[in-house]
Amino acid sequence: MPVLGWFHLDGPSWEVETGRRDGSVSNITEALTNLLPPGSNITQLISGFQQKGLSVKDLVVLSGGHTVGTSHCSAFTSRLYNFTGNGDTDPSLDPNYIARLKIKCPQGDQNTLVEMDPGSFRTFDEDYFTLVNKRRGLFQSDAALLNNNETRAYVISQLSNSSSTFFTDFGVSMVNMGRIGVLTGTAGEIRKVCALVN
Ligand code: HEM
Repeated sequence: MPVLGWFHLDGPSWEVETGRRDGSVSNITEALTNLLPPGSNITQLISGFQQKGLSVKDLVVLSGGHTVGTSHCSAFTSRLYNFTGNGDTDPSLDPNYIARLKIKCPQGDQNTLVEMDPGSFRTFDEDYFTLVNKRRGLFQSDAALLNNNETRAYVISQLSNSSSTFFTDFGVSMVNMGRIGVLTGTAGEIRKVCALVN
């Protein structure tokens, strides 16, 4: 069961591959250069995932991780106030939702936290795909999933809770994500305690 901070989120579980070799240095800059920006379009998202050995399906499935957690206003505020530099809004975002988000994030507010899946941001559920389909995905990267045939078809296939495959798919894609850049041979070390360098 995934946990965020100290509370349980419900949602799926999956078997994690063990015996991985870890490095001994963590570098925030390195982390940031490996993350795709929230303004990414579908081409950038697909190629960014591909460069890490992840598929188009992994992209749409793992984006469903945005069913939990919060975002700073700064990650999406350009969609509300200044989309193309003319004081306009992002046409791919539901105008009613824009009005609500503007109340939460007044112009210039960078720090307020907004629930990505409002009402159930602490529960891992299938709601994310309903939000994206209603043009209420918070980031351009969420909205972009409607701009490719394969990712759009997946979003639509998850709308009915009874036929949703999201929980199983998420476990498979998390294991795929865990295979990014695995260290081999004598690189790194297998930690005795996972949170600590040996
Ligand atoms: C597809 C590319 C992705 C983009 C562009 C993206 C972007 C973002 C951004 C901008 C935030 C808000 C950060 C903040 O302002 O504090 C965020 C939060 C989050 N993302 Fe993503 N993300 C992506 C993929 C993923 C994946 C693959 C996962 C996990 C499977 C994930 C899980 C989360 C979670 C759980 C949060 C909430 C963190 C919190 O509550 O503090 N995201 N993401």
